[in-house]
Amino acid sequence: AAPPRATTPPMGWNDWNSFRCGITETIVKETADALVRTGLRDAGYRYVNVDDCWASARDTEGHLTADPVTFPSGMAALASYVHARGLRFGIYTAAGAKTCEGRPASGGHYEQDARDFADWGVDYVKLDWCGAQGDPYQLTTRFRAALDATGRSVVLGVSRHGNPWTWPSRPADLWRTSADIDDQWSSLLRNTEEETGLSTRAGRGQGWNDPDMLQIGNGGMSAEEYRAHLSLWSVLAAPLLMGNDVRTADRETLDILGNREVIAVDQDPLGLPGDRLGSDGDREVWTRRLAGGDVAVALFNRGATSTEIRTDARAVGLPQSPGYVLRDLWQHTSTSTVGGISAQVPPHGVVLFRVSVSPMWIEPQVTLSTDT
Ligand code: GLA
Repeated sequence: AAPPRATTPPMGWNDWNSFRCGITETIVKETADALVRTGLRDAGYRYVNVDDCWASARDTEGHLTADPVTFPSGMAALASYVHARGLRFGIYTAAGAKTCEGRPASGGHYEQDARDFADWGVDYVKLDWCGAQGDPYQLTTRFRAALDATGRSVVLGVSRHGNPWTWPSRPADLWRTSADIDDQWSSLLRNTEEETGLSTRAGRGQGWNDPDMLQIGNGGMSAEEYRAHLSLWSVLAAPLLMGNDVRTADRETLDILGNREVIAVDQDPLGLPGDRLGSDGDREVWTRRLAGGDVAVALFNRGATSTEIRTDARAVGLPQSPGYVLRDLWQHTSTSTVGGISAQVPPHGVVLFRVSVSPMWIEPQVTLSTDT
């Protein structure tokens, strides 16, 4: 059997949010180099995904061909460049005749395109919808079969058409749950809202809800808002596909994207997406169960003024214990508590804790149980 794909949410980079149809092979290559140089590859960002506008035509034998002006070396050469840097290569197409930008897409050519993609060394396909005709579940199942027939293990991401999280089987590894994200707070709120309640529809063995790519570092939001962005996406078990220009990213952006304690929440091996536990006006509490019994708790302030947000260990699902440890995943500090979980949360901010049962209290409990 083929190895399981995307056992944790895919991480990497996609050009769309920064470059749109201005993308070129030079930018992609420089980005691959930047992922290595900045350490982001080693933090887990492995996929280098080219979005819309790389394709320009079909040749006389029906093969999709790269734009000769912007991708003169072709996609196979680009894939090898990316692979040589320890990265994986992704490509974009759509289920109908045209992409969203009117470029040729895979409608009528699923088997041929899947074979070409596999020959080129593609590891990830984003299959968009954009007005395709037919049933999204059936077409996605057919595209999956075409990819599987190549013998290459390829991750498949789709749009939200046909509500893929409700399908009886999961031909895709990830599916969008919302509209395209913009680099502004209102968009982040909207996409977060649209995922609320969908946590049981995704996870390890099913695939991943995708509230869309990251806008961190693109300049439209504050650092506080971008930290909230990564915090929420990680609690949601969302794919982490950076959408900034990694080549020119500043220190603050790299520190946010590279926060390994937050990434570890996103990539948690249990693979159970989190959800909203409760809200009170602009104050929200989001939780995610983690491997080993820890719980990630995001205290999320949607509003424009600083506010205290509180919950407690039992409410977020931890077992009864005389004590707990709160690890602040942005401050990188630990404090202990008898149960209360609270913080003053800045406007448009998230305080993200990993909460564990205090190790000091585990041992006496184990000792007591042997007495009986
Ligand atoms: C759609 C998708 C975007 C992007 C564009 C490309 O809008 O949702 O993520 O891929 O198409 O045209």
